[in-house]
Amino acid sequence: MKTYLVTGGCGFIGSNFIHHLFNTYGDSIRVINVDKLTYAGNPENLQDIEDRPNYTFVKADICDKEAIRKVFRENTVDYVVHFAAESHVDRSILEPELFVKTNVLGTANMLNCAKEAWSLPDGPDPLGNYREGVKFLHVSTDEVYGSLPEDPNAYFYETTPYAPHSPYSASKASSDFLVKAYMDTYHFPANITNCSNNYGPYQFPEKLIPLMINNALNGRKLPVYGDGKNVRDWLYVEDHCRAIDLVLHKAKLFETYNIGGHNEKQNIEIVRTIIEVLREELPVTDPRRAQITEDLITYVEDRKGHDRRYAISPDKIGRDLGWKPETMFKDGIRKTITWYFDHQEWMEHITNGNYMKYYETMYAKRLAKSSK
Ligand code: NAD
Ligand code: TYD
Repeated sequence: MKTYLVTGGCGFIGSNFIHHLFNTYGDSIRVINVDKLTYAGNPENLQDIEDRPNYTFVKADICDKEAIRKVFRENTVDYVVHFAAESHVDRSILEPELFVKTNVLGTANMLNCAKEAWSLPDGPDPLGNYREGVKFLHVSTDEVYGSLPEDPNAYFYETTPYAPHSPYSASKASSDFLVKAYMDTYHFPANITNCSNNYGPYQFPEKLIPLMINNALNGRKLPVYGDGKNVRDWLYVEDHCRAIDLVLHKAKLFETYNIGGHNEKQNIEIVRTIIEVLREELPVTDPRRAQITEDLITYVEDRKGHDRRYAISPDKIGRDLGWKPETMFKDGIRKTITWYFDHQEWMEHITNGNYMKYYETMYAKRLAKSSK
């Protein structure tokens, strides 16, 4: 029975990945979820699996040496799937040091603890010998590559030089370099994946898609940064989870893979689609339906250092591992909107605490300026 140590499993992609693992492997695996439960970590995301005998939750900070060592000491971990991170660009602009601490130092600690637990005393490789079959999968982002020109033929490849712009992407780039350094220096058994923007259930409403859905359902304005023409390459989260599973089980050690859906959209297109689908899905008797119109769209001051375009070439993962996205955007966005619509209590629970304070800090000035 293989044991998966998932970090950040109470967040958006981590919780989708844990669901994916149990849906795919059922009782034949063990999952240990290490999460600090920051504002982005929500145990409700895993309520349906928390009583499984083959699931354990450990509330811990990935920067805490003793806590992480203890997890490795008390369990025979086969795989680490490392999601835990501070993940929101706008927050990184306000509080960059937290991103360095969690994303860089936290990853360094995870690497050290895994290396210590998996190292064998001696063997043929002078650089490092590890227990058979173990692997560390570092989950990263396409934002490490910086920004692409609007030329539709320009893509991020695994060989594209890193050129991060935001404190978030700089901290993720640093964490990727640490993993690369461990692979090169100690032959540490790892892979890195760099994925484009994900969307789907359980995403915290600070990110574009759930924020716009939640605002529209609450009659709030829809704050579009700059001219709304920045491009992101959207991937349904389950497709990302399948890709991670494949890389974990099938990829050669030391390889890195770009993951993306060839699904580039301008932000304004996404916002318009959300309005359109919400109007189709809301019953005619729902009073909110009439209010959800393009009049809610409000162009606000741009994000500082806003990357213009991201677009991934997923050719390598397609060629090597046979992965391709399965969810078309038009289906994925409808499933996503329906999910948020059906889980309004989930949304209320995560937005009734500090969330409105965050929203005020991030948007009040921007929205006030835009109406002048
Ligand atoms: P998220 O913000 O939704 O979740 C992050 C999780 O990590 C939360 O559960 C949080 O409690 C936990 N966490 C944060 N700091 C921690 C710490 N110090 N110790 C332990 N746990 C901690 O993030 P997400 O969107 O699910 O992203 C997961 C990973 O995937 C991140 O590494 C991110 O960089 C990467 N990624 C995200 C996207 C995307 O579109 N969301 C795309 C590509 C890559
Ligand atoms: P986001 O979901 O924060 O992801 P990332 O910045 O990591 O790509 O933002 C996606 C795009 O949407 C990005 O170009 C910024 C833009 N955006 C808005 O226009 N308004 C908003 O309120 C938010 C959160 C994002």
